[in-house]
Amino acid sequence: MSVLNPAVDQTICAPLPVLGRDVVVPLANGGEVAYAALDYAASAPALQRVWDDVAGYAPYYGSVHRGAGYLSQLSTDLFEQSRATVAEFLGCRPGDQLVFTRSTTDSLNLLAAVLPPGTRVFVFETEHHAALLPWRGAEVTYLDAPRTPGEAVGTLERALADRTPYGPALVCVTGASNVTGELWPVRELAAAAHAHGARIVLDAAQLAPHRPVDIGELDVDYVAFSGHKLYAPFGAGVLAGRADWLRAAEPYLAGGGASKQVARRADGGLDVEWHTTAARHEAGSPNVIGAYAIASACRALTEAGFGPLVAREQALVCRVLSALARIPQVKVLSLFGERAERVGVVSFVVDGWDSSHFAAALSARYGIGVRDGLFCAHPLVRTLLGAEPDSAGECGASESEPGERSLSAVRVSFGVGTPDEHVERFLGAVAALVGDGPGPLLAEGGR
Ligand SMILES: Cc1ncc(COP(=O)(O)O)c(C=O)c1O
Repeated sequence: MSVLNPAVDQTICAPLPVLGRDVVVPLANGGEVAYAALDYAASAPALQRVWDDVAGYAPYYGSVHRGAGYLSQLSTDLFEQSRATVAEFLGCRPGDQLVFTRSTTDSLNLLAAVLPPGTRVFVFETEHHAALLPWRGAEVTYLDAPRTPGEAVGTLERALADRTPYGPALVCVTGASNVTGELWPVRELAAAAHAHGARIVLDAAQLAPHRPVDIGELDVDYVAFSGHKLYAPFGAGVLAGRADWLRAAEPYLAGGGASKQVARRADGGLDVEWHTTAARHEAGSPNVIGAYAIASACRALTEAGFGPLVAREQALVCRVLSALARIPQVKVLSLFGERAERVGVVSFVVDGWDSSHFAAALSARYGIGVRDGLFCAHPLVRTLLGAEPDSAGECGASESEPGERSLSAVRVSFGVGTPDEHVERFLGAVAALVGDGPGPLLAEGGR
């Protein structure tokens, strides 16, 4: 059974309970409607189960690794048990380390900070900025956007074969695109990396909420993901993988918790002995609630079973893609084409509409929350939109006039808590807005 394509368990489960199901939002016409959260790829709602677990623990909250009291002991145990639960969820190998961070961005910046000197980094231009930008001290090769998963593997193999065959190298790749939702051939890319003596880090920010991620099975060296996209929005993320680079490098943050012993030297300076465990990169008071929330989400997803969760999500993905395909004015963005496998993330543009106006209309008229812009993946979105490389993006103000081609896109994304009604409301709203055109919205005063 493929990890990225679990033999489809045809049992489709009900949506898992999440917070915010009953939140009512105002509409531009003075009415109200239950909010449809369709921006899971940015931040997913908390699972009710995660919230209940966190609320159950909150009265017992205490300091971690720095207190003799009962609640400090309990909180320390909970933090370390959470590490073990998440490591099991990720299929970590014996000897792997799992560091709690703030987010995927933080995790990849941590990995960038511990690269051995002289490491060459290989990264596709299609990556999220969190994976594209942290490698500041390293020599980076940016790989062109591939148009098939096979081309991705070929491009990487050629680039690795061209490098001087000594010195450390790291490949950074996403498991599922935050723009197209398309799955990347992680196992094949890992095999190519290893065949050329390179390591590989999987950016699982969009993959982990939708598919099982098993470090050993995928044979990747590191995995990074964020709690807030995995239904656990309490400010924590994860970097897991091979311990040697993490142990050898200077601590990511210097401070209490990372240091084992600190003593004055005779010459007046300081002698510092750093931990060699994950604590080395977790200086400061750990975010025990964030770590516990991630562990709770891992347990909830495992118990619900990825088979039925994936089957349900795939049914929603098919419904969205087939309905949008019937609207000629809508163009869905895709790197790998119609046959690509996707998680619940779909970006599109609408003829004649500026994407920001379209997203604003979905909110103001239908109570639907989506995202518009370039999704912190500017090179990829510009490639997909066919825009000039130096054209302005969401950071550079690019509102097009009605009728002009939009230089940004609309993204709808969903997950384990999404009821069918939200998807149906969204599809009805797209059809209605396309039918009306942007004129009425502009007459209402734009956004
Ligand atoms: C594929 C991918 N990688 C990395 C990130 C960064 O995640 P965070 O903002 O939680 O650090 C995101 C966020 O959207 C993402 O989609």
